[in-house]
Amino acid sequence: ELLEEQNYLLELQDKLAKHLDIQSCSIVPGNFDKDYKILSTMAERTTEIINHLLGEGEQIIAVMGGTTLNEVANHMDANLGYNRELLFVPARGGLGDDAMIEANVIAQRMAQQTGGQSHGLYAPEHVHKKIYEELLKEPEIKKTLEIVESASLILYSIGTPIEMAKRRGLEEDTLKLLKEKEAVAEAFGEFINKNGEVIYKLSNIGLQSSSLKKIEHIVTVAGGKRKANAINAYLKTAPSHTWLITDEAAANEILNGG
Ligand code: G3H
Repeated sequence: ELLEEQNYLLELQDKLAKHLDIQSCSIVPGNFDKDYKILSTMAERTTEIINHLLGEGEQIIAVMGGTTLNEVANHMDANLGYNRELLFVPARGGLGDDAMIEANVIAQRMAQQTGGQSHGLYAPEHVHKKIYEELLKEPEIKKTLEIVESASLILYSIGTPIEMAKRRGLEEDTLKLLKEKEAVAEAFGEFINKNGEVIYKLSNIGLQSSSLKKIEHIVTVAGGKRKANAINAYLKTAPSHTWLITDEAAANEILNGG
């Protein structure tokens, strides 16, 4: 029976990778929406995949924020740092909310747990266009962003739009716009519709989605049936060398046209 379950998941992985047109995906059994422990299983799997993808020696890992990546941090340990000098950098500035899920804090924790180093990005993530352009000239910020762009691996999660808009404290009329234009996903400060088109973009300090494809390893982790549409839409725009870690419920929902 165990073998049957394994074969079923392997088949599902193949189907999903083909459907999303990405190199590989990894599916853990269950539905994160119904069982919180699935988050921990996905996080553990993510750490294993990162360990498998990274070479030896100096490795730069750029990380985004969120509750999913916070759990990935909980699962990293000295194993990942073995034979490597790891440097974790946040791929974006702060959101101004719960510090535990800010990219800065997550990068720091990952460094601590793996015996690596981290480099901070101390700039608010979402600022006015004029301030944004000025901030980009700051040597310290410039330097960090250069490190981010030279990362060998980027780790991020995909969010549902209204939840992310609220977390970022966006105004009521922006929320209305997102609903009108039928946003289904958010990542890298971009809100997209089901065709993968950007319908709203924040001027954010951090890695821009256009630079993503230059990064050797791209790892994204998101699960639960409620994130199915977000994952499906976002991966349409994702470089084909992206690795996705998700759960069975999201995978089935995506494949059955959810
Ligand atoms: O920045 C947020 C991520 O895109 C998704 O956040 O892991 O808390 O759902 P989450």
